[in-house]
Amino acid sequence: MAKFFKEPSRTFSEYLLVPGYTGPDCTPDRVSLKTPLVKFRKGEEPALSLNIPMVSAVMQSVSGEEMACALAREGGVSFIFGSQPIESQAEMVRNVKSSKAGFVGSDSNLSPESTLADVLNLRERTGHSTMAVTDTGKRDGKLVGLITSRDFRESRMDKNTKVKEFMTPYEKLIVGMDGISLSEANDIIWDHKLNQLPIVDEEQHLKSIVFRKDYDSHKENPNELLDDNKRYVVGAGINTRDYAERVPALVEAGVDILVIDSSEGYSCWQAETIQWIRKHYGDTVKVGAGNVVDGDGFRFLAEAGADFVKVGIGGGSICITREQKGIGRGQATATLDVAQARDEYYRNTGVYIPVCSDGGIVHDYHITLALAFGADFVMLGRYFARFKEAPNKRVSINGNYMKEYWGEGSARARNWQRYDVGGENKMSFVEGVDSYVPYAGSLRDNVGLTISKIKHTMCNCGCLTIEELQRDAKVTLVSSTSIVEGGAHDVVVRDENIDAKVQ
Ligand code: IMP
Repeated sequence: MAKFFKEPSRTFSEYLLVPGYTGPDCTPDRVSLKTPLVKFRKGEEPALSLNIPMVSAVMQSVSGEEMACALAREGGVSFIFGSQPIESQAEMVRNVKSSKAGFVGSDSNLSPESTLADVLNLRERTGHSTMAVTDTGKRDGKLVGLITSRDFRESRMDKNTKVKEFMTPYEKLIVGMDGISLSEANDIIWDHKLNQLPIVDEEQHLKSIVFRKDYDSHKENPNELLDDNKRYVVGAGINTRDYAERVPALVEAGVDILVIDSSEGYSCWQAETIQWIRKHYGDTVKVGAGNVVDGDGFRFLAEAGADFVKVGIGGGSICITREQKGIGRGQATATLDVAQARDEYYRNTGVYIPVCSDGGIVHDYHITLALAFGADFVMLGRYFARFKEAPNKRVSINGNYMKEYWGEGSARARNWQRYDVGGENKMSFVEGVDSYVPYAGSLRDNVGLTISKIKHTMCNCGCLTIEELQRDAKVTLVSSTSIVEGGAHDVVVRDENIDAKVQ
């Protein structure tokens, strides 16, 4: 007879945390969210840790270069999407590794022949107000000018006006030479009252841009996740088909951590992929595996040698796997089951394998719950897709800014490797949708708020570390009626558009 789980399959929205005692030393500024990213032996330190328990999803619409830099700046890691040619993925990794903290690769580029209409489109799409003009229109072309909002008056100019007619030309720009330090760049910015400083090499090719605002934020940011050479830490997704070519290219580009990106990871293909990496690189190349949703799946990947295990099938916001195939498990139940298997494995072997809860995070408090359920960090797609730094387009719908967000299993991404179950693999049906999410501005502002909420909640629970939360949290199931009680209820919420007269 089939095996039946006794517990129903539950989601994070079905739980709440019950406060624990908060002592005088338990304040948000003292909470540490440092968490292991890869496995380690009892008494040893993990080779890689995160400073915040958040990583961005291995998705075309989420994890590009700009996202990777912005997230590493806040203490997390992006996994650059693998559903692209090996060369372009390696190039993205290389660009992240070469964009030193504070030096930003220019993602908004124009050519001198572009028009004002192109400028406005680019600004609308990216939200960037500074655009580099290069001879080729590409990020590594020869810098010939710069456009900022001060260079044009939208209402008074013909939209067909060529960029070369109104850009600030190279001769009038103050630039920094490749190789200068961030503090030298900052001195130039201050001395000349600039908002940005393009950095070029001897042949005038654009290398990066230092922004005044970024320098300030860099100085303010103690969580930045950097490698030993002060470069951002970055991850990348791989699949179980072309790893023999993809992994060497990514390693060569300087990737710090890999993850096998698969919708369902309890398979011989994942074990084969990890074995290939171990054979060629030993333990020097770190690789996470998944996704699984129970203890059996965890133990299989642990034995196969995974550096972390990713949990979740069917919980993603753009995911229709459960409808299409009837497989999956509620994200809360899956995380708990896998984390319990991880704890048992640790007791038996002395090896701690971090667990990543992937998908289905809707509210910030779901992150805290995932950690309380035993996850060491969470992977988020929808959350990050809303930000300026995501590689997806910003569009306007009925006057509201939205960002495009499409699943890796959608007809748009066609990432069939993610759904590979061996044999001749052709995607004959989709497992994801193409959608929009409301534009939410900068990653920094939003992650800051989320982290603040997590830290406050942890203090309510009397916990200063994730380890303490995993050990001491008290969690309760909520009834459907108490969910109603949790929101504003039995009041008419004030609306500024409704005219209320005092009588
Ligand atoms: P979200 O944070 O709820 O939006 O979920 C993101 C997660 O959904 C990703 O990290 C993947 O694990 C998963 N995912 C991405 N694309 C698809 C898809 O097309 N179908 C099903 N799951 C997907």
